[in-house]
Amino acid sequence: MTDGTPDHVKIFDTTLRDGEQSPGISLNKPEKVEIAQQLARLGVDVIEAGFPITSPGDFEAVQAIAREVEGPVICALARTAVQDIDAAWNAVRDAERPRIHTFLATSDIHIQHKLRTTREDVKGQARAAVAHARQYTDDVEFSPEDGSRSDVEFMAEVVQIALDEGATTINVPDTVGYTMPHEYAAMFTRLYELVPGLRDVTVSVHCHDDLGLAVANSLAGVTAGARQVECAVNGIGERAGNASLEEIVMLLRTRAANLGLDTNINTREIARTSRLVSRLTGYPVQPNKAIVGKNAFAHESGIHQDGVLKERLTYEIMDATTIGLETNSIVLGKHSGRHALRAALEELGYQVEGAALNTAFKRFKDLADKKKKVTALDLDALVSDEMREAPAAFRLEWFNVEASSSRTPLAEVAVRMPGGELAEGSFTGDGPVDAFFSALNAAVGHEARLKEYHVSAVTGGRDALGETSVLLELNGVTASGQGVSTDILEASGRAYLRALSNALANSPVAEAEHHLRSEDSEPAAETTS
Ligand code: KIV
Ligand code: ZN
Repeated sequence: MTDGTPDHVKIFDTTLRDGEQSPGISLNKPEKVEIAQQLARLGVDVIEAGFPITSPGDFEAVQAIAREVEGPVICALARTAVQDIDAAWNAVRDAERPRIHTFLATSDIHIQHKLRTTREDVKGQARAAVAHARQYTDDVEFSPEDGSRSDVEFMAEVVQIALDEGATTINVPDTVGYTMPHEYAAMFTRLYELVPGLRDVTVSVHCHDDLGLAVANSLAGVTAGARQVECAVNGIGERAGNASLEEIVMLLRTRAANLGLDTNINTREIARTSRLVSRLTGYPVQPNKAIVGKNAFAHESGIHQDGVLKERLTYEIMDATTIGLETNSIVLGKHSGRHALRAALEELGYQVEGAALNTAFKRFKDLADKKKKVTALDLDALVSDEMREAPAAFRLEWFNVEASSSRTPLAEVAVRMPGGELAEGSFTGDGPVDAFFSALNAAVGHEARLKEYHVSAVTGGRDALGETSVLLELNGVTASGQGVSTDILEASGRAYLRALSNALANSPVAEAEHHLRSEDSEPAAETTS
């Protein structure tokens, strides 16, 4: 900051790539597009949409995001192999502003044991990869993987090669979450000395949270000169996760006067983005999580409550409205009409017309019959639940679950199959939910195994909408699904059937068949990252 204007730090969101590599997360194409649309509303500068070589499904999701999402740069990840880079390019080429991100490890531990090659070969691969990517686009990012554990002199040589070949962003990851803030900052200072050309490109940080330092390390990198932060919503990502987007953004915003830095993020979209990512990934947000945890702005002790009532600043460093937490300006009731609903949905960023508006209106009316005040949180949950209804999926038609403390629970269900026919099933179980899920398995003829099941309330109050998330495994494929309803069993059944539909859609047989049918998809390969 030289003239009092804060320096701009770019937010590179990797929720859909590194975040999606979290165990148990498997988002389907419409879910990824929905998250990407919300990230665009949030105002991120770059969306890393996926790693297209890893599967035809990932390729197609990145391609859909590149074609449908306007605003941010759309980026795809690639190792240095030609087919990786070609797949990345083919997936993002239709974006307004496409980027290829290629990476290669520079630490000796990775070079010797993972890549089983030499430093010379790494230099050659980096040169060839950046040169190849630059044939397609002038927006190329290069990452020396495990940068924080690399010999900085050698890493500098590789970074210089990447710059010579035309890389426009250099990202130095703390891949294993090992570094400390002062070390990471010193590494950047040394790298700038060794590679003066870094001052002419964007330098980026990418930190993992294995020691709980991802945000602190990202800040250290930024204070040392980096102007792009790679992060993920709710901090999801490999192992302990990535730096959390909301934490780094609110840190820069809250301490702007001190740091002289800011981002383009529309912070009022933070709470909603966090809820969407949590809902679709099935990863709950811990209550005490900074910024987006449900207690982040709650004051429990009498002394704190008293202080805040007298003057908010006594115990609050941020205003909850800044992150969009009180979006309850929208309140509808049972007398609200279609027009009011459409206006409320527009305010939330949904353009819902025709048949979709009719369905949304019906679900809104059902809810308004049971719940006095329908808020923005309720509408958001209902509409995204409806949008999740894929055409070729199983649908819950009706269910009957009998449970009491004296009898074994029994469930009977009817499911509309993707071909239109009705399938019925019944089963007993250890509890009502167990019986219900077993009956759904019986109806659809698949033996899925439940791995995780979460229930939460969208708002407070006994009449709140319930939100459920299911993670299951079918024939070695793990998939998740979510459901929303005032009836928790109905929400559970919807979630279970969506997870089953996703598992079948993601099964290798389905992917292979789809791949054969698809004209422009790319070859699948193993991921190493
Ligand atoms: O953590 C890491 O090193 C990565 C790279 C692919 C940037 O995710
Ligand atoms: Zn990473």
